[in-house]
Amino acid sequence: MEKKYNWAILSAARIANKFADGLKELPDANRYAVAARSLERAEVFKETHGFEKAYGSYEEMLADPNVDVVYVATTNNLHFKHTMMCLEAGKAVLCEKPFASDLEQVKQMIAKAKEKKVFLMEALWSRFLPDMMQFKTEVANGIIGKPSLFQCNHGFVAPFNPSHRAYNPELGGGSIPDIGIYAIFMPLYLFGKPESIQVTAVPAPTGTDWTTAILFKHKGGEISVLTSSFQLNLSNDAILHGDGGQLKLHAMFHCPTKLTFQKNNGREVEKEVEIPIQSVGNGYNYEAAEVMACLEKGVLESPNMSWQFSLDLMDILDEVVRKAEESY
Ligand SMILES: NC(=O)c1ccc[n+]([C@@H]2O[C@H](COP(=O)([O-])OP(=O)(O)OC[C@H]3O[C@@H](n4cnc5c(N)ncnc54)[C@H](OP(=O)(O)O)[C@@H]3O)[C@@H](O)[C@H]2O)c1
Repeated sequence: MEKKYNWAILSAARIANKFADGLKELPDANRYAVAARSLERAEVFKETHGFEKAYGSYEEMLADPNVDVVYVATTNNLHFKHTMMCLEAGKAVLCEKPFASDLEQVKQMIAKAKEKKVFLMEALWSRFLPDMMQFKTEVANGIIGKPSLFQCNHGFVAPFNPSHRAYNPELGGGSIPDIGIYAIFMPLYLFGKPESIQVTAVPAPTGTDWTTAILFKHKGGEISVLTSSFQLNLSNDAILHGDGGQLKLHAMFHCPTKLTFQKNNGREVEKEVEIPIQSVGNGYNYEAAEVMACLEKGVLESPNMSWQFSLDLMDILDEVVRKAEESY
């Protein structure tokens, strides 16, 4: 890469610590600035992760002309506001998932990126993990024959706390936008947008979804059976079944993990092989590397995590959340 990119992190969120660790794997990523609502928190983050500058407000950080690209890591309800602030300031943006609160906001973010001619990408880190990409390649190469059924469970017990972002509706809480998004992303990545969506859910006491079951039917006849929960510890794996066997991303399926192919006759395993994966870092390095590769090429959107993909993902999320709430 010709240039080193000055990364800035907008909010000293828990996830921002992991992302900063990911940046450490990338020689072309300069850990430049961090901004938090409190300067003290920003200073601690800066020292912990070896950044150059700490700011006590997001606005001050965005006024720094040396910032090339901003990772937005605030709560779900603030992604739209903070992404728009960054784009308005002419900064490239990698914004945490879910990209925004609804489809209309995503459309406005994309329109702003076009208007300002600034790069914008949703930080759906799993999309760029080598095991996830290998999963798709193996399916395309026909390892399991014709894929027919995708099953994915994503759930863990999030201790109930009505003010925590997992449960607080004002902070964009709910298992669907927070973790169900990964289960929903996979069939979109594998088969494209579903033709039909069925959902049933139970609410947490705050009214956000607690445990949700989702059924997709796709154009090619594939079926996806997905669950998402902040109420239960689920298997957290993803399995695609075809007429030639099954491919499994082991728990936690959305993180760097193990990939296996299994052939069975319904009762007995005939063959099980682990597919080797080359992976470095904690996984967050891959999405950051994608951003810098795009900046290097001067493109406004990633061909691998395109604006259309994020629009489709948000469109599905909107429908799943609406149908979950209707089912309460
Ligand atoms: N990719 C992944 O693996 C992954 C994993 C977990 C979470 N996430 C996503 O990352 C985002 C942050 O999650 P997190 O678990 O890191 O959350 P968190 O620790 O609660 O951090 C959220 C940040 O939001 C900022 N914030 C600004 N205004 C706020 C307000 N009014 N109330 C509360 N917070 C406010 C705070 O920034 P200051 O530091 O400035 O105070 C805080 O540090 C979410 O969108 C989530 O979906 C992604």
